Amino acid sequence: MSSRIAVLASGGGSNLQAILDHFAALGDAAPGAVVLVASDQPDALALERARRLGIATAVLDRELRTAGLLPLLQQHAIDLVGLAGYLRLVPSAVTHALRGRIVNVHPALLPAFGGPGMYGDHVHDAVVATGTRVTGATVHFVDEQYDHGAVIAQWPVPVFASDTAATVALRVLEVEHQLFPRVLADVAAGRITLGADGRVSRPGDPIRFTHFAASDASGAADAYPVAPPS
Ligand code: GRF
Repeated sequence: MSSRIAVLASGGGSNLQAILDHFAALGDAAPGAVVLVASDQPDALALERARRLGIATAVLDRELRTAGLLPLLQQHAIDLVGLAGYLRLVPSAVTHALRGRIVNVHPALLPAFGGPGMYGDHVHDAVVATGTRVTGATVHFVDEQYDHGAVIAQWPVPVFASDTAATVALRVLEVEHQLFPRVLADVAAGRITLGADGRVSRPGDPIRFTHFAASDASGAADAYPVAPPS
C-alpha cells in the first residue's frame, strides 16, 4: 500500500524538506508520497518548497484548519498526516478519523517541555534555563491534545554549559531531520502502528545510530552512544 501523505507546517519547512528528500532517496521503495502540503501561514516557506516540486498546497484559513480540515484531507485521499512544525491544534474530527495515522515531531524529550505554548524557541529557552543536560527530539502519534499522543521514537541530544537556545535548537533540528522521515516512512509502511490499547507496536527503534557527535563552543567533542539497546 502506498500512503498518500499530507504534511502540515506553519514555518520554514526544513522537516518537510527532510521528508521529501528521504522519500525521494528511497525511490521505488518509498512507502508513500507527500501529495499535499498545507499551512495556516500563507507565506510559509514550506508551501514554496512544495510548489517547487509540483505538490498540491493549501492555505488553512480558520474554516479550513477547523471544520474544513477533514473534508480537505478526504478530497486528497490522504491516509497519513505529518505535522512538521504545525502550530495549530488538530481538530478532534481529524484525530479520530485518522487515529494512528497522524505523526508529529517535537523538539524535546516529551513529556518534558511539551504542551500548549511549548514550541520553537520557547522549548529551547526552557531547556537552557533549567540547566537540562540532555534534550532531544520526539516523534509521536497525535491525539486531541498538544504533544500528548503515544511516543514512537526519541533521540537524545547533549546540552552543553556554553549552549544558547539557538545552538540547542540547531542541534535538535539536525536530529529531527534524521528521525522524523524514518519514522514517518515506517508508519506509512505499516511497520509502526498504534494499537487499540494505545500502545505503539514497532519492529525495534527505527534509527540505528552508532554515535551522535556534538561539540561545545570550545570544540570539545561529545560523542555518545545513542544506538538503542540491541
Ligand atoms: C521544529 O523544531 C519542530 O520540532 C517544531 O517546529 C520546528 C519546525 O521547523 N515543531 P521547520 O519548519 O521544520 O524548519
